[in-house]
Parts: sequence; structure tokens; C-alpha cells
Amino acid sequence: MEIIRDKRILIGVSGSISAYKTADLIRKLRDLGAAVRVIMTEAAQEFITPLTFQALSGKAVHTKLMDPSQELAMGHIALARWADLILIAPASADIIARIVQGRSYDLLTATCLATTTPIAIAPSMNQQMWHAIAVQENIATLIRRGVKIWGPNSGSQACGEWGLGRMVEPKELIYQIAKLFTHPYLTGLSVLITAGPTREYLDPVRFLSNRSSGKMGYALAAAAEAAGAQVTLISGPTNLDAPVGIQKIKIDTVQQMSDQVLSLISKADIFISCAAVSDYQPTHISSQKIKKIDKKITLELEQTTDILKTIGEQPHKPFLVGFAAETEDYKKNARVKFIVKNLDMIVANPVGYHQGFEVDANECTVIWDKGEIDFPLFPKTVLAQKLIQQIARCYYEKHPN
Ligand code: C5P
Repeated sequence: MEIIRDKRILIGVSGSISAYKTADLIRKLRDLGAAVRVIMTEAAQEFITPLTFQALSGKAVHTKLMDPSQELAMGHIALARWADLILIAPASADIIARIVQGRSYDLLTATCLATTTPIAIAPSMNQQMWHAIAVQENIATLIRRGVKIWGPNSGSQACGEWGLGRMVEPKELIYQIAKLFTHPYLTGLSVLITAGPTREYLDPVRFLSNRSSGKMGYALAAAAEAAGAQVTLISGPTNLDAPVGIQKIKIDTVQQMSDQVLSLISKADIFISCAAVSDYQPTHISSQKIKKIDKKITLELEQTTDILKTIGEQPHKPFLVGFAAETEDYKKNARVKFIVKNLDMIVANPVGYHQGFEVDANECTVIWDKGEIDFPLFPKTVLAQKLIQQIARCYYEKHPN
């Protein structure tokens, strides 16, 4: 989400109960380093006070078009020019209609008229209102004019009904904002990513696994999608939600992951094997829970299929990116894997009890045939963007057209 840093986001708040979510949105945007200013309509102030948004945005909230003091500080023309993005969240049926009509009686609508900045709206209203022909025709008009429509989502509503009309969550709005500012340099490319751990079963209730949380692979999937790629994520068991806009396939075992990768690989332009794939599996899986009878038991293990190496041996292989999580000599070991698995790139990262796995930040060295780059410790979301950029650079070097 580094892309959001220093962006100037003008948030328009109209009269809807979802305005409380906008408080969280503004906080998250500030945490990401964005500059935020807020315009509230009169109806919005019935739901939440300007003071809340003032405290969160760190700036006085703009509420009036005809207020000489506010106009002096930053009038509607200056606000319209200041913003890199105007996001109306929540957008009620009424503000949508007023924007469609080109009204300019209040500060928010006047600002929307006075701008060439991209405008996005996050609708929020009762599901019956959302389906009303008037609202749908207004939305169609806004789409024709290039306004981005983010949402609404479906679910339970404050009015007690169920359906489409909930404002999309701040997390998803932030994702949409990041996507809007990202140059879509992977448009037209298909990226297949594996993430998370695998499980190798001993019996119906026990398995061998590892500490991979999936955070790095999921962050890579989100970054590739934001860069315009069509992304498929094959994921072992994790606690993470699929990033927005991504097809996620859940698997448990190496064999299941291998089956999915082999069935999808021919459509992929880039394959990023970020999963912590088990190297060994039990030779025998007990059909019943193993009983606690013997004092000592021995597990016999055999090597699993090396999915990445198998793909590396194919005559028509996509651009291949492997990961090497190592507790010692991580660069040296990664260079060997780069050759043995016939890769285009390998990401070497040191791991330990409190490093690499489960944590939110990661450091690594990217190795490919023409060079190496060290990336110091970054949040995984930031590192993912840098890795996707580097993968794209090397991919286009190999496929100039
Ligand atoms: O386990 P190893 O260090 O060899 O993993 C290096 C790379 O190979 C990683 O990208 C991992 O996802 C992949 N791998 C695989 N199948 C395995 C083991 C590892 O695809 N059985």
C-alpha cells in the first residue's frame, strides 16, 4: 500500500448510517501516509459530527459552500484542485442523484463539478432503494461519465433488511484506491501463485505441516492483481481472506497443490511458488487414528513431488519464481536451487523462530541470471509490491513484446 503514501484524498461524506465506517477509513488512510480532507453534507452531520473527522484527518472539516472563513481557508475550487482523488463514502441515493443532475447548491456537489480529478463513490442505502430504477439509471450515467462505483456489498442492513446496499468495508476501499493509483503494468498477463503451508496426513486427525502463515503469498497476489494481472491463488490452510478480485483455490496436501498447479500452469505467464511445500510425506497414512499403545513409534517419510522442479523441467514453462526459506547460508542455498530447479528468479529469505514465518515483515535477496538485489526488512505488503515490480522488469526483459 506504499502507493497511497502522500496521495491527497478528499472524502465526501453524505447522509447515511455507514458514515461511521468512514471514520475507520480515514484513520487507515492516514496510517498509510495519505493526506485526507473531508467535506460533509448537512445530512451527514445528522449521523456523525465534524469533530470526529477533524480529529481523524487532522484538518478542519469542510461543511459549507457559503462560509467566508472556510472559503478563505480552502474553498471548493481549491479543494477540487488539491485532491488526487475524490471519494464519496458513503454515497446516499440523494447525493448520487444530485451529482448526476450537476447540482451545485452545497459544497460537495459544487466541488464535484469544479474538478477534473477522478471521482469514486461508495454507495450506501436500503436494498430496495439501490434497486430502484431511478438509482440504477443514475449509476449507469455516472459509469458512462467515468465515475468509479465501488460497491455496494450485500448483507444485513441497519434497517433490518438483507441485500445489496451496504457500503464496502474500509479495507476494500483502500484496496480500490491503491489499484486506482497503480500503473497496470501486468495487464493481459496471467499470474499463478501458491501460498501458505501444506498438510501431510498421518491419520484422519493428525498431519505434518509448517509455520507458514501465507501472508507473503497473499500480499504478492494482491500486488499482482493491483498491477493489472489476472491472478489465481492456490492456497494451503491459512486464516487469511482471499484478496479482492482474485480466484482462490484451497488445497491441503502437496499432491492436491501439485494437481492444481499442473492443471493451471499452461494458462500462466508467470508462476510464483511462494508456498512452504512439505518436502516429505508419510509413506503410509493410517486409515484410523493411531493409538497410544507403543512407548516409541517411528514415522517413515518419503519425498513429495517437487512441484516447482517439475514445472522447471517442462519444455514450455512460464516465467518461474521460486522462494527459498533458509535458516543458514540462505543466499548460497538459494543460488543452488535457482540452478537445480531451472528458475528465472529466486527469492531467498532468512527464516527462524521469529523471522520470515508468521510475522508481518520480511527481508530477502532476489537472485536472477543477470543480478541480485537485497531488500531490507519491509512490511510484507510493501515488499510484495517491490517484488512484483522486479518480477515484471525481468519478465519483460525476457519477453520484450
Ligand atoms: O523446499 P525448497 O527450499 O526446495 O523450496 C524451494 C521452492 O520450491 C519454493 O518456491 C517452494 O514453493 C518450491 N517447492 C515445491 N515443491 C516441493 C518443495 C518446494 O514446489 N515439494
